[in-house]
Amino acid sequence: MTPERRPFIAGNWKLWGTRAQGGEYCDRLLELLPDEGRRPADVGLCVPFTALDVCVERLRGSGVKVLAQNMHAEDTGAFTGEVSAAMLTELGVDGVVLGHSERRQYNCETDRALQDKVPAALEAGLSPILCVGESEEERERGETQRKLRHQVQEGLDKVPVERLREVTIAYEPIWAIGTGRVATPEIAQEAIGFVRALVGDRSKEAAGEVRIQYGGSVKPENAGEILAQGDIDGALVGGASLDPEGFARIVAAAEP
Ligand code: PGA
Repeated sequence: MTPERRPFIAGNWKLWGTRAQGGEYCDRLLELLPDEGRRPADVGLCVPFTALDVCVERLRGSGVKVLAQNMHAEDTGAFTGEVSAAMLTELGVDGVVLGHSERRQYNCETDRALQDKVPAALEAGLSPILCVGESEEERERGETQRKLRHQVQEGLDKVPVERLREVTIAYEPIWAIGTGRVATPEIAQEAIGFVRALVGDRSKEAAGEVRIQYGGSVKPENAGEILAQGDIDGALVGGASLDPEGFARIVAAAEP
């Protein structure tokens, strides 16, 4: 974390959260979080489509952002089962997670599709979180940088230089997601420093401004040392975000 980049802690509910659960969660989280002006970080929740409007309603005026977990790049068309950026902004949604490794693995999400989704989100007024990260085999084969270079370059390819700073990037090594095997702060810092340098290939200024989160088995117990790394500007938290108490503790860990 550096003073010029405000940390951003986002909870990713994945496949959790009926409308009733989502509403209750938001009410409880607001009891636990300090008021917006006293929070050490920006806070967001990435929730299923069906709970978005409930969360927007419950969190109105609180400063807590509501994000979807995917969207289609096109506005309309023959894409059964898809949701557009305009459908999300109509609900008052603030942002969208794009390219999560689970969507890459189970739903055929490609870098090619992300090339269009990231700028489409920005154009519609949604703040994107672009997820990148290597698998265990790629790390063992020494291909981490090659993989990150490909994902970052493709994902940001059609984003105009002056809008790069509006994208949040989440570095999530696949081997650390949902496994309890958090990356060491040094590994996370090294990879995130590399991702920042890749943004710097497009624009030195944007590299200094873009927020890069770490994701993968972040918990209240390990958040502090991860967030203390110079290039790490926040966290994308899966499993541990389902407990509002634990999530609020992770937000508190962003206090410098
Ligand atoms: P995890 O998931 O915190 O449960 O490892 C992180 C993510 O997938 O964003």
